[in-house]
Amino acid sequence: TMGNSTNIFWQESPVGKLERQKLLNQKGCVVWITGLSGSGKSTLACSLSRELHTRGKLSYILDGDNVRHGLNKDLGFKAEDRTENIRRVGEVAKLFADAGLICIASLISPYRKDRDACRAMLPDAFIEVFMNMPLALCEERDPKGLYKLARAGKIKGFTGIDDPYEPPLNCEIELNQKDGVCPTPSAMAEEVVTYLEDKG
Ligand code: PPS
Repeated sequence: TMGNSTNIFWQESPVGKLERQKLLNQKGCVVWITGLSGSGKSTLACSLSRELHTRGKLSYILDGDNVRHGLNKDLGFKAEDRTENIRRVGEVAKLFADAGLICIASLISPYRKDRDACRAMLPDAFIEVFMNMPLALCEERDPKGLYKLARAGKIKGFTGIDDPYEPPLNCEIELNQKDGVCPTPSAMAEEVVTYLEDKG
């Protein structure tokens, strides 16, 4: 749809996407990390970005917490705000991917339809990574003390407690504990890098 935009035209860039890819020696894409608060999304994003940098690949992290300080500071955590949060980050991620970067988006992104809408914007360039960690583990980690506040009823609508998280049905990569042990961030980053290499 055209939304509210009428009489708006598309301006072509003088330098094409393929030219940018050649210059950077990489293809742009979006690695979309989804999962509960405390599941290790940001840690994986950082480890992955570092790993890619070491290999001479340009990446950039869009982290939910950070984006909510700027671009999305007008948004809260009710369903429509989360949806708008994901939509905007999806659009920005699409721009980064078009620019030729490996954009690493790290957001809870709890609703399947919102993630799928981002996927639809990025044909063949959306890699969904599901941090499938048990709620009990995330809650035990509770790095910001938010689960504690949510359990005490001091935060309402906290994902996993009294707000839903809809796990992906068709993600490219699922990361989980093995024999009750969580893989190290670098091992998880390695798995993602291997996937990206295999897909060119
Ligand atoms: S979402 O659902 O994708 O729009 O969320 P996101 O932009 O990733 O922001 C999640 C971080 O916001 C903090 N926070 C909450 N999370 C979930 N539910 C509620 N109600 C909430 N209130 C604040 C929390 O620190 C999340 O950080 P992460 O990095 O995921 O732990």
